[in-house]
Amino acid sequence: MDELRRAADLAADHLRTVGERPVWQPVPDDARAWLTDQPLPRAGRPLDDLLTDIRDHVLPYPMGNGHPRFFGWVNSPPSTAGIASAVLAAALNPSCAGGDHAGVLLEHTAVRWLAQLIGYPGDGLLTSGASMATVIALAAARQAGARRDGWDPREDGLWGRPPMVVYVSAEGHSCLRKAVELLGFGTRGLRVIPVDAGFRMDVAALGAAIADDLRNGLRPLCVAASAGTVNTGAIDPLPAIADLADEYGLWLHVDGAYGALGAVVEPAAFAGLARADSLVLDPHKWLGVPVDCGCVLLRDPVTARDAFSLVPAYLRDEAAGDFGWFSEYGPEQTRPLRALKTWATIAHLGSDGVARLVAGTSARARELADLVDAADDLERLAPVTTSVVAFRYRHGADPDAVNRAIPAAVQRRGRAFLTGTRLGDVEALRACVLSPATTAGDLRVLLEEVRVAAGEAG
Ligand SMILES: Cc1ncc(COP(=O)(O)O)c(C=O)c1O
Repeated sequence: MDELRRAADLAADHLRTVGERPVWQPVPDDARAWLTDQPLPRAGRPLDDLLTDIRDHVLPYPMGNGHPRFFGWVNSPPSTAGIASAVLAAALNPSCAGGDHAGVLLEHTAVRWLAQLIGYPGDGLLTSGASMATVIALAAARQAGARRDGWDPREDGLWGRPPMVVYVSAEGHSCLRKAVELLGFGTRGLRVIPVDAGFRMDVAALGAAIADDLRNGLRPLCVAASAGTVNTGAIDPLPAIADLADEYGLWLHVDGAYGALGAVVEPAAFAGLARADSLVLDPHKWLGVPVDCGCVLLRDPVTARDAFSLVPAYLRDEAAGDFGWFSEYGPEQTRPLRALKTWATIAHLGSDGVARLVAGTSARARELADLVDAADDLERLAPVTTSVVAFRYRHGADPDAVNRAIPAAVQRRGRAFLTGTRLGDVEALRACVLSPATTAGDLRVLLEEVRVAAGEAG
């Protein structure tokens, strides 16, 4: 068991020195060959040798999200409490499908804490991430909507029914479209609503689209709003969207995978969130729970149970309480112990610490926005509502080509890491601040690197 202690030492060394190494570096050819081309070994090797391999061939080539100058996508550094408890979760190795054991019982607490943190009156389950959580939420919406219309999609499929329609904004995450396709609505059942100048869903356009679909004999089912879009962190006008959902009897889903945690410090900005029928929140994003961990919350979890519950004889559990098994609420049967790292991360921070994390990283993002606003060669492209800054380098004969080339050039240089996107009809840079270790100096390095990369790109 000494190997477990050595593994813990390697993890601690890695975390201690992560800020001194390149944020990311291309994997050299020999290291790449080691990682991809190893033949299947016939004889095993001692674990201690494998730990040396991991030290030499794996730990030097991270994705980069442990580093304070990582601003890419929506990937946070892992919380230390989460890492330590994840090892213990692996040592226990239960399936949290259900049953009467610590992992299952703790999941109820972890989910309740998440709901409480953001002020959502519902219950739910942990998932692999927001994509799976969204599939569960929209399946619950489909089940509840069909039940209201007097049929059951599990029995009938979608044959011969008025096509159901899901409304998302043009800035809605791609996981919404994936779920819509997977659940059989088809992209013809997906209505993409334009956004206003702040990249928020245009409510008048939403109302017009619903009315139009009703006139055409379709079945408006669900509006999927965002509380923190991936591109700009925008929060859709949730109260007005909730009013429309009420008026037309639509299911209101809120994608708060990244942003909903913002409600901990700025509940007014998230007003209306508590009116959602389903809500998705990713503990593996802003909260820093080690990947993977998403969460779906439902005002009435029975809707998800109605969509998924299937208990074969070998899984009968007469002693299960009213909630039953977690595996009745989604597609996964064997489920990992995600609750321990989620519980440990929240318990270690306390709700005060979560508020400090969210407020601190949001303030850094606003500092970055101020630096961008003060620079002649940079242009901010969106208001900063959560902790993402969308901006763009202004100069060059072809600004779109330059901005498109900047992220990869910044990444290759290794001093900072940011990613790009398309916003409206322009190429944009986006920097998402999620690390409590990011300093004001780190922001200046990021902008220096953007300028150097822009120079290289011409
Ligand atoms: C707003 C939003 N929704 C959904 C997702 C998908 O989350 P996951 O990767 O956990 O499935 C993301 C990922 O970045 C996101 O930012």
